[in-house]
Amino acid sequence: MILPVLPQGVFMTALFSPLSLRELELPNRIAVSPMCQYSCEPDGLPTEWHRVHLGSRAVGGAGIVMTEATAVEPRGRITPHDLGIWSDDHAAALEPITEFIRQQGSVPGIQLAHAGHKASKTRPWDGNVPLSPEDGGWEVLSPSPEAYPPFGGDRPAIEKATTADIDGVIEAYRTAAERSLEAGFEIAEVHAAHGYLLHEFLSPVTNRREDAYGGSFENRTRLIREVTDAVRDVWPEDKPVFVRISGTDWLPEQESWDIEQSVRLAAELAALGVDLIDVSSGGIHPDQDIPAGPNFQVPLAEAVRDGADVAVGAVGGITEPEQADALVHNGRADLVLVGREFLRDPYFGLHAAGRLEEEPSARWPIQYRRGVR
Ligand SMILES: Cc1cc2nc3c(=O)[nH]c(=O)nc-3n(C[C@H](O)[C@H](O)[C@H](O)COP(=O)(O)O)c2cc1C
Repeated sequence: MILPVLPQGVFMTALFSPLSLRELELPNRIAVSPMCQYSCEPDGLPTEWHRVHLGSRAVGGAGIVMTEATAVEPRGRITPHDLGIWSDDHAAALEPITEFIRQQGSVPGIQLAHAGHKASKTRPWDGNVPLSPEDGGWEVLSPSPEAYPPFGGDRPAIEKATTADIDGVIEAYRTAAERSLEAGFEIAEVHAAHGYLLHEFLSPVTNRREDAYGGSFENRTRLIREVTDAVRDVWPEDKPVFVRISGTDWLPEQESWDIEQSVRLAAELAALGVDLIDVSSGGIHPDQDIPAGPNFQVPLAEAVRDGADVAVGAVGGITEPEQADALVHNGRADLVLVGREFLRDPYFGLHAAGRLEEEPSARWPIQYRRGVR
């Protein structure tokens, strides 16, 4: 990789080299990974928490600030306290947040989500247990309720998605993308990972349907392709679309979703106009055997990058600036998504510049320059 040279003659590290996706130029390769905050009133509207939480990470030097999983329809929320984008009011409430992120030189992205049969639960700090309709929960959607894995205990009411439900989900993604644009987001990421609705259709573990949306690879991938088409259709030509997938279910002993299918899907999504595949893993079944640790999902991202010839984001166990820089420098990933380290350190991007760059102060907000050592 040839490293760009800054005007003043200082070499830029790979992590701080810009990335162009369509007409959008990311200032660096560091993204805040989507992280649920469970901090809305039960209306899906952002609160002061979201403004400060997302805004701080833009101040802290992230190239992309991605929202938490943002529900395209109310029953697609994991908990009643999730963020949503199913009305114009949601778009209007998110607009000042995207504006602030942009003012910091960062790029606002939104993760568009539907929780499928993992919806209608209490927040993690309230036990993460199923919430019945009597207690403020709702009926949840699944490709095949009979295949529901025992995540989080018994479920009271799971509806098998009808064709009308499926059409409704596709339409909800389309209008959510339109509203995201009105709200000022520049990247739309479709969430198809972690055992939520779109992943539930992809994986044979949860998809036992015998119609056009189940069975063969082509049928199981139909919904994500239709959703992607709908989003790409309304998302401007000059702005990128990402898709987050689980690269594998980590269930080698049974028929499941694996990296070979992920590579094949990624190539098809790229042909539909997806610009970057954000490669996570797991979430479909509690028997998953995840080899968690530093860089543990990077080989999956690398396989997608090499096999599908598409830009990828690596995520999972990335905590050190030098580690993140090496992933980009060595051509293993185009973008690095950082989750929990950004919870520990909202200024991870600035601190990374401090460790990696000769002139880190140029990255710091002008208001904070006197604090640069
Ligand atoms: C508090 C929390 C909330 C999360 N919420 C989401 C989410 O909304 N959408 C998503 O795709 N992943 C979510 N994740 C997963 C992260 O985006 C990320 O993939 C994972 O934490 C691994 O990266 P890390 O090792 O840098 O934390 C969440 C993780 C945490 C810790």
